[in-house]
Order: sequence, then C-alpha cells, then structure tokens
Amino acid sequence: MKNLITILTLSLFLFSCGNDTKKEDTANYTTEKQTPLEKSIADGALVYKDFCNVCHRPKGKGVGKSFPPLAGSDWLVDKRTESIHAIKYGLSGEIQVNGKTYNSAMTPLGLSDQETADVMNYIMNTWENTQDEMVTLEEVKAVTK
Ligand code: HEC
Repeated sequence: MKNLITILTLSLFLFSCGNDTKKEDTANYTTEKQTPLEKSIADGALVYKDFCNVCHRPKGKGVGKSFPPLAGSDWLVDKRTESIHAIKYGLSGEIQVNGKTYNSAMTPLGLSDQETADVMNYIMNTWENTQDEMVTLEEVKAVTK
C-alpha cells in the first residue's frame, strides 16, 4: 500500500511538472492579450526571417562591408522614413551606417505595406534597438516613391 501511494505521488508530481512546461511554452504564442505593437513585432519577426535574414543575419549584425547592420544602426534611428522607403522600393548607392561606408544595393522585397510596418516594428524593437513611436500602416502608406 505504501508503495502504491509513493508511485501515485510520484506520477502526480511528474504529471504536474510536464503540465507546467506546456503552459510556459504556449504562453509565448498567446495572442489574446497582445497589444497592437506586440502583434506587429511578432508578425514582423516572421517577415524578417523570410526576407531579411539572409543579408542582415539573425542577430541584425549584417555581413562585413556588404550588408550593413540593423542592430544598433544609427541610420535606422535617424532615417526612419528613408528606412521605410528602402524596404518598399529598395536602396542603392553610398550610405554611412555607424560611421562605416556601404556602397551596395538592396532590391525591393515586394512586401505589403502592413508587412513593411511589421518588419520595421520588429527591427526597431529587437537586439536592444528601441523605438519611441510605433510604425503604423498609415505611416508606411504615406511613403511614396
Ligand atoms: C539581398 C540582401 C538584402 C536583403 C534581403 C535585405 N537587405 Fe536591407 N540592405 C542591404 C544592403 C546591401 C543595404 C545597403 C544598401 C546601400 O549600400 O545603399 C541595406 C540597407 C538596409 C537598411 C538601411 C541601412 C541600415 O543598416 O540601417 C535597412 C533599414 C534595411 N536594409 C532593412 C532591411 C529589411 C527590413 C529587410 C527585409 C524586409 C532587408 N533589409 C532585406 C541588403 C539586403
């Protein structure tokens, strides 16, 4: 009898542990209580993986002299509208990012205005980057060629 109780207690313990992990895992994907900014950042993370990762790399550090960094980029902070423009229509020619010169080209990526807003919110709020004001769909729409 004593053994049975021990086994029961043990399995209850193991069961509840398993449950806890599950709860924690799903918490990251809960959408109910997301603010509009949190949702935009989460959607933008997926856009980033699909469209920007290859050049700007998962940690946003870029690659050597070819691809400029987004993490800690002064260009991104100082030139918010130009950044939106670059994502919508591409960017080429000489630019300075954190005092380093880049002279390369980024082709337009074919994103929707919403995807552009989302990826902007993602890159402006990731890798210790911070943003004062969320990028909205209206703001992206207003940036024309
Ligand atoms: C094919 C490679 C490539 C891809 C893919 C790419 N970029 Fe770029 N990006 C570049 C290059 C190269 C430059 C610099 C262009 C120049 O020298 O004028 C740049 C510049 C930038 C800049 C301005 C400079 C800076 O570092 O702050 C931003 C912002 C940016 N890219 C964001 C993005 C985002 C967001 C995506 C995905 C939606 C993306 N890029 C996808 C190659 C790429």
